[in-house]
Amino acid sequence: MSFINWSSDMSVSSQQMDKQHQRLIDIINRYHDALEAGVPHAQLMTIFKEVISYAVEHFRDEEREMEQHQYPNLQRHRLIHQNLTQRIGEFVSAMDKQQPGVEREIQFFLKSWLTAHIMGIDKQYAPYMVKAVTA
Ligand SMILES: [Fe+2]
Ligand SMILES: [Fe+2]
Repeated sequence: MSFINWSSDMSVSSQQMDKQHQRLIDIINRYHDALEAGVPHAQLMTIFKEVISYAVEHFRDEEREMEQHQYPNLQRHRLIHQNLTQRIGEFVSAMDKQQPGVEREIQFFLKSWLTAHIMGIDKQYAPYMVKAVTA
């Protein structure tokens, strides 16, 4: 069974963002499966780097969408993305040092990040996504 399953209650009322969240979940599930299968450290690092680059791309697209839909809490949301990116950076150096337990720590960080961030923070912009874009 997957580590995380996307469900419609995770929808943020934007087809593009829902698709990106699903893709993030896919990569995170792959990280989980690889960890459970006991793959070598380097392989886990490769998947983690995939999470990072896709997350960075996602944050950028999401901020652009919020901007287009004139979401009033964009600045606050941007800061939360920056904090997450910083946290991810700390994990990268811990991974580089092969710090004991970091691989599992990342697994739970990714799960709680996704569920807490999508369900709690991203969902707040959902009502603005259904409004027409004013150029
Ligand atoms: Fe977000
Ligand atoms: Fe998001």
